[in-house]
Amino acid sequence: MCGIVGYIGNNNAYDILIKGLHRLEYRGYDSAGVAIVSPEGQLNVYKSMGKVSNLEAYCKDKNKEGVIGIAHTRWATHGEPSDCNAHPHFSEDGNIALVHNGTIENYKVLKEALLQHGCRFHSDTDTEVLVQLIEYIRLTNNCSLLDAVREALKEVVGAYAIAVIEKNNPDQIIAARKSSPLVVGIGEDEMFLASDATPIVEYTDNVVYVKDEEIAVIRRGEPLKLVNLENQEAEIDVKKLKVSISELEKGGYDHFMLKEIFEQPRTLTDCIRGRVVEDGRRVLINGVSDNKEKFINAHRIIIVACGTSWHAALLGKYLIQDMCRIPVEVEYASEFRYSNPVLTSNDVVIAISQSGETADTLAAIQIAKKMGAFVYGISNVVGSSIPRETHSGTYIHVGPEIGVASTKAFTGQVMVLTMVALAIAELKGTMTQEQIAELGKVITKIPDLVSQTLKLNDKIKHLSLIYTYARNFLYLGRGYSYPVALEGALKLKEISYIHAEGYPAAEMKHGPIALIDAEMPTVIIAPNDHLYEKIVNNVQQVKARHGSVIAIVTEGDTEIRNMADHVLEVPEVPECLTPIITSIPLQLLSYYIAINKGKNVDMPRNLAKSVTVE
Ligand code: F6R
Repeated sequence: MCGIVGYIGNNNAYDILIKGLHRLEYRGYDSAGVAIVSPEGQLNVYKSMGKVSNLEAYCKDKNKEGVIGIAHTRWATHGEPSDCNAHPHFSEDGNIALVHNGTIENYKVLKEALLQHGCRFHSDTDTEVLVQLIEYIRLTNNCSLLDAVREALKEVVGAYAIAVIEKNNPDQIIAARKSSPLVVGIGEDEMFLASDATPIVEYTDNVVYVKDEEIAVIRRGEPLKLVNLENQEAEIDVKKLKVSISELEKGGYDHFMLKEIFEQPRTLTDCIRGRVVEDGRRVLINGVSDNKEKFINAHRIIIVACGTSWHAALLGKYLIQDMCRIPVEVEYASEFRYSNPVLTSNDVVIAISQSGETADTLAAIQIAKKMGAFVYGISNVVGSSIPRETHSGTYIHVGPEIGVASTKAFTGQVMVLTMVALAIAELKGTMTQEQIAELGKVITKIPDLVSQTLKLNDKIKHLSLIYTYARNFLYLGRGYSYPVALEGALKLKEISYIHAEGYPAAEMKHGPIALIDAEMPTVIIAPNDHLYEKIVNNVQQVKARHGSVIAIVTEGDTEIRNMADHVLEVPEVPECLTPIITSIPLQLLSYYIAINKGKNVDMPRNLAKSVTVE
């Protein structure tokens, strides 16, 4: 939700900022802006509604000279997307410019007070309140920008990652964070800041992840300084980035989403590397073995997550219950946090988040920790907030996911949950060594089996043409295929804007069956598992009502093949591993339908990759 970038050094700030905004565009793309202090001492602020490319077109003939600047790509919260609501916002006297990711919850109260003091506002945003407050404090107390920012942030309730520059002092950027991410990159004679490391990676691999309520003082010719709101200095912990540029580019694919779908054989290999070893006989998950007692003695596991990660969580429930015989509950993080949950120190909470920044999931973690539960994180982004907030955890290691619709992160999450379940099962003795080794062996083959499944690409591309103009879709699955149905429906609706519902197949007769007619395609996920015969009935029920059926079945299937309108055959794997395989054709189907409709699959409307607001 919103991306911020900043630069100070000897190079042209505009080029670096625009490139950075393109990298962060997945975080929001309804408007963008830059503020640069020119060599003549002007603070030039340019903003434009729409994508970063609109901003570039707008800036074409403008003065973009300068070696210090900040920039922003917005996902609107307060105030509609418009030029004037776009960031950077600047102070009444035009001296200070600020970009912000997050929400200032008490902005109305602050705005009221500032209006009383004669401040004027030009936008509907919460952010403008912050820049006016900083200016007001700066002028009233005749203090430095750093002190004004510190004092202003003490007044603020909410979440923020901000970067502030001033015209009269073009040698410093003040940046700060609370609950929204902020990374500082340290180069030679230059420094960068951004919401995540992707705009920084091509310039330096030395980064500092700013912590909550820390302020970064980034001054030309001086080392980075971190202070807290009381101006006490904090330690600088420089980390090495491990992301490569090629991971941030499309690599010959038309879209990041397609690239990420096709990357899955490699990302799954990375995900299991060093974890499923000795030809599958051993599953090593350090976060589990290091906290053996917590998992062995857990009375209950509660998994919290949002969106696609919540679908992975549902699969986690089936996996852990089946393999470890521990009761598992799955909660939307947004509901959990306000549900007055009952937790004890015998509970283990698993929080799943690709970005590691989702506000609701972070809040759920904080509640769980406060109540004494052991909290385990499953994330993709190294150094993000959720791995830092949790007691322990596992990275999925699938590389940066840029397409807004999650694909490789989902399969990575499911793979990690499978390995975590196996590791706990081994500790608890709920599975024999032979059973573990049997599954472990198949896990090592999953990347190849995903490659085989991806060969369905052309068939699905063709099939998608038949269904491009369907107005509704139903996705059905049972057992391990039910969360896959939910995920398939979510994928379709987010990128093609076709209404799609996922249901447990047996629930169909309790209501959704009323929707079935010749206009309503149903996607049925029916691998060869212990519920296969049950789902055959659902296929019959849909066909009896003239509905068309696209079925995902195991290679060699004959029964459903004879009934369904279209079948997509996937390789056979043990039931608990089917979701990783069956989700692949659903990703491709939604991709091609959206492409046929001319939609922007990488940046679907209204969505953002990292949901750092409630
Ligand atoms: C859908 C999608 C979202 C995210 C959700 C949680 O394709 O990506 O539903 O899964 O916003 O995000 P994370 O996993 O970053 O917490």
